[in-house]
Amino acid sequence: MNEIIRNTQSSVANTSLDPQDWSEFRALAHRMLDETIDGIANVRARPVWQPIPAEVRAALKTDVPREASDLADVYREFTEHVAPYATGNVHPGFMGWVHGGGTAVGMLAEMLAAGLNANLGGRDHMPIEVERQIVDWMRRLFLLPESASGIFVTGTSMANLMAVLVSRTAALGTLARQHGIGNDGALLTAYASQAAHGCISRAMDVAGLGTDALRKIAVDADHRIDVAALRAQIAVDREVDFKPFLVVASAGTVDIGAIDDLRAIAELCRDEGIWFHVDGAFGALAILSPELAPLLGGIELADSIALDFHKWGQVPYDAGFLLVRDGEQHRQAFAQPAAYLRREARGLAAGAVWPCDLGPDLSRGFRALKTWFTLKTFGTDRIGAVIARCCALAKYLEARVLAEPRLELLAPVNLNIVCFRYRADDAVNREIVADIQEAGIAAPSSTTLAGKFAIRAAIVNHRTEATDIDALVAAVLQFGGQRSGGVIEVDAPPLAAQ
Ligand SMILES: Cc1ncc(COP(=O)(O)O)c(C=O)c1O
Repeated sequence: MNEIIRNTQSSVANTSLDPQDWSEFRALAHRMLDETIDGIANVRARPVWQPIPAEVRAALKTDVPREASDLADVYREFTEHVAPYATGNVHPGFMGWVHGGGTAVGMLAEMLAAGLNANLGGRDHMPIEVERQIVDWMRRLFLLPESASGIFVTGTSMANLMAVLVSRTAALGTLARQHGIGNDGALLTAYASQAAHGCISRAMDVAGLGTDALRKIAVDADHRIDVAALRAQIAVDREVDFKPFLVVASAGTVDIGAIDDLRAIAELCRDEGIWFHVDGAFGALAILSPELAPLLGGIELADSIALDFHKWGQVPYDAGFLLVRDGEQHRQAFAQPAAYLRREARGLAAGAVWPCDLGPDLSRGFRALKTWFTLKTFGTDRIGAVIARCCALAKYLEARVLAEPRLELLAPVNLNIVCFRYRADDAVNREIVADIQEAGIAAPSSTTLAGKFAIRAAIVNHRTEATDIDALVAAVLQFGGQRSGGVIEVDAPPLAAQ
């Protein structure tokens, strides 16, 4: 035996990380699986969310674990200290931000993916074909040509950033990747509505174009971009020699779920020779619902579409996605030669184009598998029905708010998001949100609309039912009454009556 290996073996008894006793491992693994399934099946028995006790937070903080621990002990720590204090978005009462509920099917697929430990940066293996299959499904759903390309990413923030980079390279040419954006790049201007998600502005920053180069266009009463104002701003910018290169339309704004007039924007972009990107983080998957799909009319004209399967697609986190109409333009924004990534005609290094040619990541996990399992197991019609049901529940909440004099609706309900408040000041409403979260009854989030603090309920979870909406309304009324001492400030008629 080689002396180096003999010496190494004497200092560390067993360097393989596989279990020494597979049957013991298997028994514990089955218990973990059973308990995780129980956790999902019985999720209603738990609070939606609970604050982390100081001692639990403190218990996690240890020195670097140089010595081995028993897997059963580490698992016990997980069940006692981690799992009970998760975000809570598996629970049907979770209505904050835009969080998907995940499914037991997705959980299993995630486990299978971890078992394969596949790296989807490139090379010729079936997991990449699974990702390509989903690209093809998405291309078909959004009626993009066969030359379209797509890629899984962490989330829509990343997908939007990549769309900015692809459109930037399309505008400046690939030499800009070598020389930098230069003087031409300094003149590029992009456009999105004032209601667009903050990640668009951050994408402009990260792409080196600067947030000032994003023109935030006014919205109408329904929070849709004012297309006339957009056209006028583009004309003003051209007048002074800026180079408009990108319009980002929202298909579901984060605050209230508004969908811009995608067809009008597509026509404007075509006339102006501007890249048309759609931020469809949650709204784009409404394409799966025959009732809602018409709201997305014009999305098929997009140059690129960003969306998340981890929101309305109910795929466990994370599973963001970018689709680009012209696959070659997509590739040109990221592909890079490297001897150690040489592509071959056969063998494991075959199969170009590789995903690493389509984004900034080289090593990538198998996000596609949990999405593939989800779409195939449930079928896209059923996911579409879940999406439509979320919107129906939002309408139900809207009706409950309008019927209750102590509550005030703060925005029209377009899709699945309801913004309202107890008729009291901002401070009281802020306390109400925290009270409800801490009581574990529901988890709404908040936003500010026209200067007013709003309680915001985004119905995304396939488990949510009318009784969860009733529980939210009851909790708002209960804590609102307690916090405001029962004094109701009626300062405006309900939105519907305006
Ligand atoms: C409209 C919109 N765009 C972008 C994002 C960011 O998506 P992610 O959190 O997946 O990065 C969100 C998140 O809620 C969103 O609602």
